[in-house]
Amino acid sequence: MLPIIQNQPPPNVIDLGLGDPPLSVLPLELIRNSAQRRLARADHPFLQYGAEQGDGHFLGALAAFLTQGYGFEARPESLFVTNGISKALDLICTLFTQAGDTIFVEEPTYFLALRIFADHHLNAVPIETDENGLDPASLQEKLAEYRPKFLYLIPTFQNPTGTTLPQERRDQLVQLAKEHNFLIVADEVYHLLSYSEPPPKAFAYYTETENILSLGSFSKILAPGLRLGWLQAHPNMIKRFTACGLLDSGGGLNPFTSAMICDVIESGGLASNINRLIEIYRLQLNFLNRALQQHLPQLRYRIPGGGYFIWLELPEHINSNELRQKARAFHVDFRPGTLFSSRKGLADKMRVCFIHYEEEEINEGLLRLKKCLLDAS
Ligand SMILES: Cc1ncc(COP(=O)(O)O)c(C=O)c1O
Repeated sequence: MLPIIQNQPPPNVIDLGLGDPPLSVLPLELIRNSAQRRLARADHPFLQYGAEQGDGHFLGALAAFLTQGYGFEARPESLFVTNGISKALDLICTLFTQAGDTIFVEEPTYFLALRIFADHHLNAVPIETDENGLDPASLQEKLAEYRPKFLYLIPTFQNPTGTTLPQERRDQLVQLAKEHNFLIVADEVYHLLSYSEPPPKAFAYYTETENILSLGSFSKILAPGLRLGWLQAHPNMIKRFTACGLLDSGGGLNPFTSAMICDVIESGGLASNINRLIEIYRLQLNFLNRALQQHLPQLRYRIPGGGYFIWLELPEHINSNELRQKARAFHVDFRPGTLFSSRKGLADKMRVCFIHYEEEEINEGLLRLKKCLLDAS
């Protein structure tokens, strides 16, 4: 039989590495109600090829939502509708790079972004990070050696480390991008999922300069199956996207879905869904934290302020790739650190996710991991 959804682990395996929201949190009723309201209306431009930048009404609703969510003004003319961040990254690579070009990525970074960059035959050069995210000194060092087309980073509640770049570093990076003439592609997918302190300003704040592209997505705040997101940038940069061949041929990237989601935003459903997710995920993070302390006190980690992930440091003699092989026999899985490294390092690290499973399964998964670690020691 063909699989129904992506990334399904075998039924007897608890995959603590899995970064997908569970079906139980995806808001069917909210989306059904909005879609029914919208489809009951007589006007149906969303069945036609759409405006390249995205439907004007939707862009207005999205701008109002982001103004509220980010805490500074977002203007519709600075927004461009995408099919989610993955597609936006692909399009950025198409429009701004050629095979063989150098780009900079955080070490570690979102492993599936590395796959997209590899599809474009780009040379991904790692920039060091610390507990505060990307290290500007490492960036400066690499700038003396390379001329990157862009720097890809996840500034807030990073995947996989959970770290957040402080405001001063954000200012510094923007300054460096201007001085050295490269783009910053800020993947802000987790920015609105904050469980304690509000994070520093999103990179969207800096889009009065043409060097900054800020990417957002409905995948983590509503549902990944929508394949809907946005890019926020200076209007001159937006024109680079709307003028491309893909849009010439196919029109705006997701007119039908954005029409349905426009109602979700305007009815207040998106804001309340985000609040609901924050409540659920905060409890799950606290639970995983307590369970880790109880079952696996030998692992070191920092508690993230938001997002999906905890980045664990294994005792020195344990290699996470070898541990993963062993873990199969214990019916537990996770993501080894090397997956997130552009130079195949970080074998002493592993990523676990706290939003996919409920408490009982998280607990059972950690007990299995504990047995596996005992066996490996
Ligand atoms: C950092 C990061 N960027 C992008 C994505 C994918 O976003 P989208 O579904 O909008 O393509 C994910 C999903 O896990 C992610 O963690």
